Amino acid sequence: MRETAGKFADAIIINASQLLTLENSSSDSDLLGILDNGAVAIKDGLILETGLTSEIVKKFSSCSNIIDAEKSLVMPGFVDCHTHLVFAGNRSSEMEMRLQGADYLDILKDRGGIHSTVKATRAASANELFDTAVKRLDLIAENGTTTVEIKSGYGLNEESELKMLKVIKKLSENHSLDIIPTYLGAHTFPDDSNRVDYLEWLSGDSLQLFSKYAEFFDVFSEEGAFNLEETELLLRAAKGVGFKLKAHVGQFNDIGAAGLASSMGAVSVDHLENISDEDLDKMADSGTVAVLLPGVPFFLQSSIYPDAKRFIKRGIPVALATDFNPGSCPSYSMQMMITLGIFYCGMTVADAVAAATINAAKAINREDEIGSLKPGKKADLIILNIERPEEIPYYFGTNLVKKTIKNGRII
Ligand code: NIG
Ligand code: FE
Repeated sequence: MRETAGKFADAIIINASQLLTLENSSSDSDLLGILDNGAVAIKDGLILETGLTSEIVKKFSSCSNIIDAEKSLVMPGFVDCHTHLVFAGNRSSEMEMRLQGADYLDILKDRGGIHSTVKATRAASANELFDTAVKRLDLIAENGTTTVEIKSGYGLNEESELKMLKVIKKLSENHSLDIIPTYLGAHTFPDDSNRVDYLEWLSGDSLQLFSKYAEFFDVFSEEGAFNLEETELLLRAAKGVGFKLKAHVGQFNDIGAAGLASSMGAVSVDHLENISDEDLDKMADSGTVAVLLPGVPFFLQSSIYPDAKRFIKRGIPVALATDFNPGSCPSYSMQMMITLGIFYCGMTVADAVAAATINAAKAINREDEIGSLKPGKKADLIILNIERPEEIPYYFGTNLVKKTIKNGRII
């Protein structure tokens, strides 16, 4: 029988204890756009409508594909806007060294750290990198993430950076999760090139080639990695060939890169444990998103976390991401990052949930497509084994995701 109202849905999700739409959030107290006993109608992989379960059931009575949330929390899928997910090997021995007192930047200076992952990643075949990355993406999806940004940066020469970017492209063509590619040739200076040559290569013709594979250009601005002058040179060159910009800034030392990158129009600057008030003002002026990565100080056992309140106070959008990588945060759990954001970065539950969804979408320029349950956006949703978002940090350390729905389909 055809429906006369003229509205058809491919699926409806009903009986959410709370539906977090992240929409209509005019006031801070309703940042999450909560609908009690909410429901969602889905059509062609997109959100068609949100409302109360009673309304949606009535309106879409002809829809036979009903997903019953059984009084669980329903919200947008997590957006992990900063990862280094493609790599070979692991660095658990470095964790042990750090537990004996070694320091992350000293290990890097001694040609360990990123360099050891570069060695392993260069030695691995594209197929090996692809296969391990698929396994990681499957786990990430199980943990509620529906869009992932992935950086290169463990190749540090043309052949291996290209190999990484091609693997990232193949992942986006073959995996159900959406993947946003970022070129991070400027992760550190490789062992087998001198500083001047490497900078020249990074900022030269190779950029054109890599811009065919990646949407964003990223640089690790830090003492021992790229200094302020080098960061500026690279961001300028990358912008010149059409890259959107990101930067790793203020992780251990504030060298002024947050302000520089923001003034140059960076979409996001990431880490931000250390930042001056002057640079905060530049971020506020430019609309650059602050991406906080609290899994990093947690894993490196630092007491210095980024302070979300300093950004929020100035109206700077704050996002959370895992930074999933083998050296400074081998966790891909956005639920854990929400917990750390609340417990260590001064975020409210609402701040942290918005940071893991709509603000993370802003950090990858996808706020018109994902990050909230707005009609017309992708039907990327998760159903969690809890009733209220406050229970995410409460039940920390376990995967609360019952179902992940990507483009309207359960995966
Ligand atoms: O974001 N800080 C630089 N890059 C990564 C770590 C990469 C690694 O240690 O392999 C980060 O923390
Ligand atoms: Fe990173």
